[in-house]
Amino acid sequence: MKDLVAIILAAGQGTRMYSGLPKVLHNVAGQAMLDHVLEAIEPLEPRRIFVVTGFMSERVREHVGRRATCVNQDKRLGTAHAVKQAVPHLENFKGEVLITVGDTPLIRTETLRELIKRRRAHQVAATVLTTELENPTGYGRIVRNRDGTVRKIVEEKDTNIYEAAIREINTGIYVFDCQKLLAALQRVRNNNAQKEYYLTDTIEILEKLGGEVEPVVADDPTEIIGVNSRAELARAESFLRRRIALSVMEQGVTVIDPATTYIDRQVRIGRDTVIHPFSVLKGHCEIGEGAQIGPQAHVTDSRIGAGSRVRFCCIDQAELGEGVEVGPYASIRPGTRVCDGVRIGTFVEVTRSTVGAGSDILHLSYLGDAQIGERCSLGTASVTVNFDGVKKHRTVLGDDVFLGSRTSLVAPVEVESGSRFPHNASLQGTVTNGSAKPAPKARRPAKRK
Ligand code: UD1
Ligand code: CA
Repeated sequence: MKDLVAIILAAGQGTRMYSGLPKVLHNVAGQAMLDHVLEAIEPLEPRRIFVVTGFMSERVREHVGRRATCVNQDKRLGTAHAVKQAVPHLENFKGEVLITVGDTPLIRTETLRELIKRRRAHQVAATVLTTELENPTGYGRIVRNRDGTVRKIVEEKDTNIYEAAIREINTGIYVFDCQKLLAALQRVRNNNAQKEYYLTDTIEILEKLGGEVEPVVADDPTEIIGVNSRAELARAESFLRRRIALSVMEQGVTVIDPATTYIDRQVRIGRDTVIHPFSVLKGHCEIGEGAQIGPQAHVTDSRIGAGSRVRFCCIDQAELGEGVEVGPYASIRPGTRVCDGVRIGTFVEVTRSTVGAGSDILHLSYLGDAQIGERCSLGTASVTVNFDGVKKHRTVLGDDVFLGSRTSLVAPVEVESGSRFPHNASLQGTVTNGSAKPAPKARRPAKRK
């Protein structure tokens, strides 16, 4: 939309969060509230997006990067004053301005689109997104004219008893005709309970200037919940998670218990995969089709191939192929690649390693800095001894290696393809077929710095 500009108000500290972090950078469902708002706006393709920053503006600016233009509001003198910071960029702009607050992470693109559509269709000065709440405490109230248009918005602290009883509230999301907004902004004064320049006052001003303001009622009041405290953050989180779970299910994924399943927004899951209870999928995860995830799988920034089954385990920044089994009680740590058909069993930890297709590591093992070939079998309690107290060393196994129980792979070590060792072996240097060649050098006892 070439004739659309968006402004996100995000200068506030969020006093009631009691946090060192700006409010809009607090996470909901795995990403900052501000990111959710940006994600809702971006599909509208506005010609520009402005973010009004103030509290820790550098931090917010850094977070936003190239997604939007940040304008700074030095003193928080109110929402109208915040919008004014973008005015130098809007002087000659003839289109319309979408204004949202930065603390409503559940807002959806379709709702914003509707707000824009209605303003255009009825050629009104502005549209305001409203909703009816059982308990409107804390929000600005919508006072309507007889014909249903908005006469004014009254902030709670400025309401009389009649206005306070109104349950239709201002969501803080509007679309304005740009030039009319600029004219109205010039007239906003701060003679109110909070001595602030209220953006909401522009509505009554527009009315008086002869422009109509149309309310658009959001059917789903959860969509516009504003987050002002940690309790509201948790509430937003639960609504957003429910929404994500629903959309995942609509794409053909079974979520056995959405109430105990935590899926971040960026997670992609193939059809006919089943997510069992108490599972957490965080960050950028990609799960293939027909996989079984959980119960109690904690997966972060990882890929899991089709038909894999992972349960009671942690998988962090790892890549698993197809038909892989992990767990119960396994930890797959960053930098690990597990190829197709591998089985990793109980009390096994793998880090910075590659495990070739079809290999088995089924009980009580540790692999660090290892490269395991295909179809290997590592016996119970086989471990890499990869750290000498100063440096980490590599372990390399060829294909079809069989290691009996309790093998120690004292790195650096290389085991040639097809080698077989009975239990209790301690391998070092380059070894093959059960006959260890002498280790290159005796190791000095490690000294820690
Ligand atoms: C605002 C609305 C209220 C509405 C509510 C919806 C006004 C005067 N009131 O109230 O009608 O029901 O949102 O959530 O607009 N901000 C700045 N600079 C400022 C002040 C605020 O950037 O000087 C930003 C804040 O960071 C926040 C947003 O504007 O993202 C809203 O400010 P906040 O103080 O939370 O307004 P509310 O009292 O919630
Ligand atoms: Ca607010």
